[in-house]
Amino acid sequence: MQTAEIRQRWLDYFASRGHTVVPSASLVSDDPTLLFTVAGMVPFVPYLTGLVPAPYPRATSVQKCIRTNDIEEVGKTPRHGTFFQMNGNFSFGDYFKEQAIAYAWEFLTSAEDEGGLGFDPKDLWVTIYEDDDDAFQYWKQTANLPDERIQRLGKGTNYWSTGQPGPAGPCSEIFFDRGPAYGADGGPATDDDRYVEIWNLVFMEYLRGQGTGKDDFEILGELPKKNIDTGMGLERVAFLKQGVENMYEIDQVRPVLDKAAELSGRRYGANHDDDVRMRVIADHVRSALMLIADGVSVSNEGRGYILRRLLRRTVRAMRLLGVETATFPELFPASRDAMKAAYPEVESDFDRISRIAYGEEETFLRTLASGTSILDLAVADTKTKGAGELPGDTAFLLHDTFGFPIDLTLEMAEEAGLTVNRAEFDRLMADQRARAKADAKTKKTALADLSVYSAFRAKGETVFTGYDLLETDTSVLGLIVNGESVQSAAAGDIAEVILAETSLYAESGGQEADAGSIVGNGFDLEVLDVQRPVKGLVSHRVQVRSGEVGVGAAARTVVDAEWRRGATQAHSGTHLVHAALRQILGPQAHQSGSYNKAGYLRLDFAWNQGLSAETRSEIEEVANNAIREDLEVVTRVLPLDEAKALGAMALFGEKYGDLVRVVDIGGPWSRELCGGTHVRHSSEIGIINLVSESSIGSTSRRIESLVGRDAFRDLATERAIVSELTASLKTPREQLPDRISELLANLKAAEKKIAEYESRQLAGRVPELVASATRVGEVTLVSESVGSLRSTDELRQLVTSVRERLGSDAAVVALAAEVSGKPAVIVATNPAARETGVRAGVLARGAAGVLGGGGGGKDDLAQGGGSDVSAIPAALESVTSNLAA
Ligand code: SER
Repeated sequence: MQTAEIRQRWLDYFASRGHTVVPSASLVSDDPTLLFTVAGMVPFVPYLTGLVPAPYPRATSVQKCIRTNDIEEVGKTPRHGTFFQMNGNFSFGDYFKEQAIAYAWEFLTSAEDEGGLGFDPKDLWVTIYEDDDDAFQYWKQTANLPDERIQRLGKGTNYWSTGQPGPAGPCSEIFFDRGPAYGADGGPATDDDRYVEIWNLVFMEYLRGQGTGKDDFEILGELPKKNIDTGMGLERVAFLKQGVENMYEIDQVRPVLDKAAELSGRRYGANHDDDVRMRVIADHVRSALMLIADGVSVSNEGRGYILRRLLRRTVRAMRLLGVETATFPELFPASRDAMKAAYPEVESDFDRISRIAYGEEETFLRTLASGTSILDLAVADTKTKGAGELPGDTAFLLHDTFGFPIDLTLEMAEEAGLTVNRAEFDRLMADQRARAKADAKTKKTALADLSVYSAFRAKGETVFTGYDLLETDTSVLGLIVNGESVQSAAAGDIAEVILAETSLYAESGGQEADAGSIVGNGFDLEVLDVQRPVKGLVSHRVQVRSGEVGVGAAARTVVDAEWRRGATQAHSGTHLVHAALRQILGPQAHQSGSYNKAGYLRLDFAWNQGLSAETRSEIEEVANNAIREDLEVVTRVLPLDEAKALGAMALFGEKYGDLVRVVDIGGPWSRELCGGTHVRHSSEIGIINLVSESSIGSTSRRIESLVGRDAFRDLATERAIVSELTASLKTPREQLPDRISELLANLKAAEKKIAEYESRQLAGRVPELVASATRVGEVTLVSESVGSLRSTDELRQLVTSVRERLGSDAAVVALAAEVSGKPAVIVATNPAARETGVRAGVLARGAAGVLGGGGGGKDDLAQGGGSDVSAIPAALESVTSNLAA
């Protein structure tokens, strides 16, 4: 039975039992606490918690999921995939435990020609939560299972949540027994390779709190309704129904594995390590394909980092199979063809997907070879020293310069039998992050715990009126102070305000929050920040300037018009720069991030080399031409599918069926999905002045521009500087560069002459110093202060010249000078002096002590320094007395 057929049987079964079929949501979860959609229930969390009323009492879906916490297990067990599909049936306060168990049993065991999966009841086992007697009863009634095939297990395995605060509950899992050839008797409690979990029924009736592990969280209370959330692993059922050994051999995955075997010329099934590598490749390529299709692109953090890690692990696994050239152009099409029946977008969007994947492979292949040799050297070095741990700075270098994800270094070190000094690596990373953040402004907002917002969100969405209006009359629905919902806030307080409507733009899509105020009868609030802590709810962080504001009060939101004008110019400007980039560099220069606020815009994009000055000017010119052409800006709200059909560049994260906003500037020339505020005609932007272009990692660049008035002011400042230069250099503007080069060349020549002159001067002082020699015991001593010099090099040169001139009898030269305001002393000895036991290092150290500093060196030449110039005579004295002693 093909995977697609199991999927269809599932949907048909539950649809005919009153479940609404809901298409899969994006892998990019819009739940701020989750990086990815990790289970079928994730898109339904607001309905499960009661935050938003469920639009249907029961639903069913086949949801795309990503989980990478068990990435090390991939390929080694039959059932760990980083990408998988979860068949789910859900009840939102409708049916509960008894019915959920009945459906599951019927679907699994009814005959194939009746629409079921045709599993033999004697191959199935179940587990229940330790004290769930109800579940035990229902399993007995429904399935008539013998008692020993209903095993009771603890919270660690049979109490389900996403791992985050949110809905949770005891669960019952269904297992398929693959038979004694695969492991020990005794049911799922004993062996999870032989007994494969295929379906998890969660009786979701509680809300869990913070905690780290699978069982160390608190239960905060009951959910408003008793819900059902079930998840059947589509890949697991597929491998059992297809009679293959594991999920990597099913119809949707196997073609990639075969391609890896073909490319490497190795046979699948011949060698265990190679088999694991082929399975890793098959899994990771599919996960990467699906992630990129859902809008994730490679980067060094968050989702992008996980994608990068999957791609780089694939490259490495291919290398371990002996293939060192690019293989993605073979592997990705194989995965596309296996997945396109269920997910047509992997085919229609394959150009973009493959550009991202192939680009990453090329980049990584370039650095992998050099990084690997660095690592090999470090491994050899560590082993020679008899140590077991690679230094953290090697791992950091590999990460920073060669783009090795730390996990890759850890794995490669482990293969060589070494560990890595992780603490040192983490410290170096933290230092680097701190440096990067030093100039980033401190986050303005500390949002209250998400649960406070849930209650407000449950009452409805905040209506944004700000596309058309700067001011809106509304009412205060809630106030939050220090994370707690309160009734009022008074002058001086910092509070968050929840309103029914607002004209103030909440930070999103790269656009800064609006500035402005919220005013009402007897109060005036200054808006410090506007955020959307949960989807659909706007929170205004304010300082109460005067009066007192209470829940229920009438209020008016007032946007600072100048601020907004600047923000819309910058945001529309960002779209123009993006369109210009793509026009000039090609569509592979896709945007990976942006930020804009009044007067400034920043755009990050995928590209792996610096732009030439000409390209920068060209981009700037195309963007400014678009401004001059006064292009019309048109915004439309459309269903996601229609917007994509129009070719709008997707922002992703939207769900199928969502309405999205499409912003066109000059028709299709610039067409993006965007919720931001925009000018009505491009000419309102004024000008765009591209001020910098820099690297932010091996595959991303950043363009920064000034916009509108700020751009004009920056140009005006430059003009003022240029006129000052033309006046002081008495040179016309166009000749300034030549004039300055000429002046610099003259300066260099003059400096050279001065240095020659000074060196002659210095040489001229040697005879006089030689003449000043005195005798201390057996030794001839020259000990003088020579005034101020430009460098200690000059002092050293003088000391050695004098020593040369003193002949072969025992001689010591100690000269002191002031260099850049600080005292320095250099002592030299000749061989005869050293034979009598005199050592330059000792003398220099003694003198430096007197100067208030330290010093040292060899027996023949040593140097000391300090801070007190007036101590020079005493320091030289100390040389004489040391010598005499
Ligand atoms: N949420 C549960 C799981 O992921 C059942 O769907 O296992």
